[in-house]
Amino acid sequence: MPKRDIRVFDLWQETVGMLTREGILLCSVNSDGAPNVMTIGWMTAGVVWGKPIVTVYVRPTRFTYTYLEQVPEFTVNVLPPEHAEALQFCGTASGRDVDKLAHTGLTAVPAQRVTAPVIEQAVIHYECRIVHKSDLIEANLAPELQSNYPHRDLHRVYMGEVLAAYASEDARQRLQRTPL
Ligand SMILES: Cc1cc2nc3c(=O)[nH]c(=O)nc-3n(C[C@H](O)[C@H](O)[C@H](O)COP(=O)(O)O)c2cc1C
Repeated sequence: MPKRDIRVFDLWQETVGMLTREGILLCSVNSDGAPNVMTIGWMTAGVVWGKPIVTVYVRPTRFTYTYLEQVPEFTVNVLPPEHAEALQFCGTASGRDVDKLAHTGLTAVPAQRVTAPVIEQAVIHYECRIVHKSDLIEANLAPELQSNYPHRDLHRVYMGEVLAAYASEDARQRLQRTPL
């Protein structure tokens, strides 16, 4: 199914639907060009500095964190629900221990605007360049949220400018099981 450019937030509701269910795939790349994928359930979006921005939240213990620190880019790939098993695997196994793409059969293909690849099986893609990063601050967290961090590994917050967004023509139907 061919993919076409979309307005950046045209399929945001479908994207959030998957975020709140099976998750979506963040793909990063290291300085040798090797990709790694990780499932995410946290992502926000909006306009900052007049640019379309998506923000992702990555704990420093993730292998992905070391990749984002090497190459300040990522892609976000929304897979349809039939890939639930692969999403679960990519959200529990680490790229330190296993080649998750080889294990799941997911395919990395070149992106349009960044060196981090996109995942062919996804139906929506966002290509992002990191324009800001910062760490969540324990002392600034509402008390009821502090229990999320017994090991004090507070997420690093990466703001990515969306340089390209595109989707399969049938993306809406393939994701329609997941309205917000
Ligand atoms: C549904 C789901 C959502 C997740 N969301 C996030 C997230 O937003 N941020 C994060 O740091 N880890 C998240 N994780 C955990 C990582 O995906 C997991 O630790 C993964 O194994 C890290 O892979 P890596 O070490 O190759 O980077 C999530 C896991 C699942 C199953």
